[in-house]
Amino acid sequence: MASTRKFPHHLIREIFEQPDALRHTIEPRVSADAGLVRLDEIHISREELRALRRINIVASGTSRHAGMTGQYMMQELAAVPVDVDYASEFEYRNPMIGRGELSIFITQSGETADTTASQREARQKGSRTIAISNVEGSTIAREADGFIYTHAGPEISIASTKAFTAQMACLFLFALYLGEIKETVSEELAKHYIRELLALPLKTETVLAAAEQVEKLAELYYRVDDFMFLGRAIHYPIAMDGALKLKEVSYIHAEGYPTGEAKHGPNALIDFRLPLVIIATCDRNDAGSVTRYEKNVSNMEGFKKQGATLIALATEGDTTIPQIADHTLFIPHAPELLSPILEIVPLQLFAYYVAAKRGLDVDRPRNLVKAVTLE
Ligand code: F6R
Repeated sequence: MASTRKFPHHLIREIFEQPDALRHTIEPRVSADAGLVRLDEIHISREELRALRRINIVASGTSRHAGMTGQYMMQELAAVPVDVDYASEFEYRNPMIGRGELSIFITQSGETADTTASQREARQKGSRTIAISNVEGSTIAREADGFIYTHAGPEISIASTKAFTAQMACLFLFALYLGEIKETVSEELAKHYIRELLALPLKTETVLAAAEQVEKLAELYYRVDDFMFLGRAIHYPIAMDGALKLKEVSYIHAEGYPTGEAKHGPNALIDFRLPLVIIATCDRNDAGSVTRYEKNVSNMEGFKKQGATLIALATEGDTTIPQIADHTLFIPHAPELLSPILEIVPLQLFAYYVAAKRGLDVDRPRNLVKAVTLE
């Protein structure tokens, strides 16, 4: 899809390269027939992985948002407690980690100083480490016990997009791998998830095919100076990343919040002047997802009564959300744990089109660098 088109900026090309990035990251590592995930570069024995007491995920920025989705994936599929830290804060909380634990470091560049320093600290304390990186032979990968590469191809634009979706795919692969080892995932469930993983690139293409609709939305909102992004459960990190993309490429103030937290303060800000981008997708095969969806619907009705403008992400076929929201962008149906990989795509597109309409340097936002190599 991306290779046959011409794009005005790296950022939009990289957003459109996501179906291929996902294909290259997922396909070589799964067998749909056997229901098996292969991660040859982990170099940690199955016995050791089976006995893990805890997993710590450490990263910065967008990579940390991927880590937050990984927490839901691993706790759900492998029944292991998972903590997520900002790499820049890791050393200050005296991380009480050690033997019998695994620390996962996620970094697109593999050179982020806070993240490489955190990995050294974790190793010193006796934790095993795995690096998820987009750069082969990077510092983080060289110093880790094992690694899982995101095969997203070089990411040139400063804002991370295709590396992010590939990171989430790697985290899901690892969660499934661990679930198979710990026997918390049945063969049947593994086969189901592998089929769903393999379906993601095509579904991502469907989301990208609606880019024009997102561009029209950007045309309506590019002059607005504040946004709030809301998401519940595994969709909360996607709200965080949607807000981060908008602020870094458009210089618009945007906050990401858990939907349920709005009532605990931010609601005071919500009126017609503050557009809300709310993730309200639903996996109809998952009872927990349906319950959370119903809460989202009720929250949206409340926001509407306050006069809010709502831009919603909903699952294809949903007829309730479009009646409440001012604008609805649709996402193909996917399992709850995989849906974030699709949801971020329209939010990336939104950030891109808003920044482009503001006439900004979308690939090189001011004051930012691609790899933050100083702590
Ligand atoms: C946001 C973005 C940054 C990076 C962060 C970590 O779009 O690009 O937030 O995600 O600086 O970088 P890496 O993943 O290279 O460690």
